[in-house]
Amino acid sequence: MKTKCLYINTIGCQMNVYDSEQIAKILTPLGYKMNSSIEFADLIIVNTCAIREKAEQKVFSFLGRIAGLKRKKPGLIIGVGGCVAQQEGERILERMPHVDLIFGTHAICRLPYLIQKIEAERCSIVDVEMSEIIEEFESVIESPLDRTDPKATSFVTIMRGCDNFCTYCVVPHVRGRETSRLPESIVKEVKGLVKSGVREVTLLGQNVNSYGKKEKLTSFPQLLALVNEIDGLFRIRFTTSHPKDLSDDLISAFNDLDKLCNHIHLPVQSGSNRILKRMNRKYTRELYLEKIEKLRNNCPGIAITSDIIVGFPGETIVDFEETLDLIKQVEFDGIFAFKYSDRPNAPAARFTDKITEQENKERLQILLDLQEYFTTKKNSELVGSNELILVEGLSKKKVDSDTQRKCQYIQWSGRTATNKVVNFIQLEDTIPRDKILKGKIVNVKIEKAYSHSLWGKPVQMEATLFASEGEQSYAA
Ligand code: 5AD
Ligand code: SF4
Repeated sequence: MKTKCLYINTIGCQMNVYDSEQIAKILTPLGYKMNSSIEFADLIIVNTCAIREKAEQKVFSFLGRIAGLKRKKPGLIIGVGGCVAQQEGERILERMPHVDLIFGTHAICRLPYLIQKIEAERCSIVDVEMSEIIEEFESVIESPLDRTDPKATSFVTIMRGCDNFCTYCVVPHVRGRETSRLPESIVKEVKGLVKSGVREVTLLGQNVNSYGKKEKLTSFPQLLALVNEIDGLFRIRFTTSHPKDLSDDLISAFNDLDKLCNHIHLPVQSGSNRILKRMNRKYTRELYLEKIEKLRNNCPGIAITSDIIVGFPGETIVDFEETLDLIKQVEFDGIFAFKYSDRPNAPAARFTDKITEQENKERLQILLDLQEYFTTKKNSELVGSNELILVEGLSKKKVDSDTQRKCQYIQWSGRTATNKVVNFIQLEDTIPRDKILKGKIVNVKIEKAYSHSLWGKPVQMEATLFASEGEQSYAA
């Protein structure tokens, strides 16, 4: 079979990164192979995000830019998948007539059929049906993508959709009701990934704490215990936890399971009870703070990160100050902060008392400045300590932070168990230049802290850390 080039542009969250990988896998039997050069593509897929308006605009500007490619290469197939596809459906074709396929969040399993039909008939198709994911799709998911460049870390979706209906959020409307995958299938998938070289998995769901509840499967902490048993896996992470459902069992899991990383992402969204109620978050500021205290008492050194929305409709200065106050009380390791954005179908879009763009912008900046102080503080506390880093790949950084000169050396990047990015140089006198560190665990002495990363010096290689064979080791 002739190999055809597949180019995927993934916009949005980790769930989309995972889905893009499933798209690549399911299209492999049709002869499609991933290629990072768009000009060679026979099929371009945009996996879209609708969480905020900005992400949606990104989709349309990308589609606009590739119209010229289609004119040059009429055989090119352009597909739009994910949340914007689900939300907008047919309307995308009206705005972007060069698009051939719109497929919703539940249609990935039908892609081979849809693409073959377009190849044969040169028709355009819209498939946004929210049907059950077909069973055979699980076997596609369970086997890893054949890669030339194996990855050290991978996402694994354990549940899809959401039943929470926060008033600002589009997810329940575009991803449908919450469903959990079978634990056996998840374990099989992780085992396959480990065999392909993956050493760390992040289990994904909109609210992992409710994993399996509806279907009466194992609980989330039980699932974590099953994954923890997998030989060759080094680390487990998960995201996202809803504060209302954070259980004592999950808190205990941080101590009981050696592979579970000491980090939790626990989106608070606001520090004001009035706004939390309007957001339909189903917890109070007090309950959130109680959970933080429990986490810190039971899991020493745990890193806590969060999501916050500023300028939710009706948010007064007093509400906003309550959020700032919560940030000061918790001292998060990091925050993702967003300006509130109206979403079609989300009830908050119909709330009247909207905050102006200018006010929103100012609040966001105040919040980010405050958090930067705490992020830097938390990072600085690590200076002088030794941290185990799982190396994910070459650092993206091209410029030295201190000299502002172009980097001349090989610079690797990885994360601590607490999810902090650490960069370090492969010093030629200690590690041979051709030594590939990706996927290796390195003990790094932290020397400098910046607001978004740490800088360190490798002091011990994996071989001496875990006494495995064939590795070079050295002392600092
Ligand atoms: N506007 C701004 N931020 C949003 N988020 C979700 N919906 C919206 C919206 N309409 C943020 C929340 C969520 C994160 C993934 O995106 O903070 O936790
Ligand atoms: Fe959206 Fe709330 Fe569900 Fe998260 S829990 S996906 S914010 S509705």
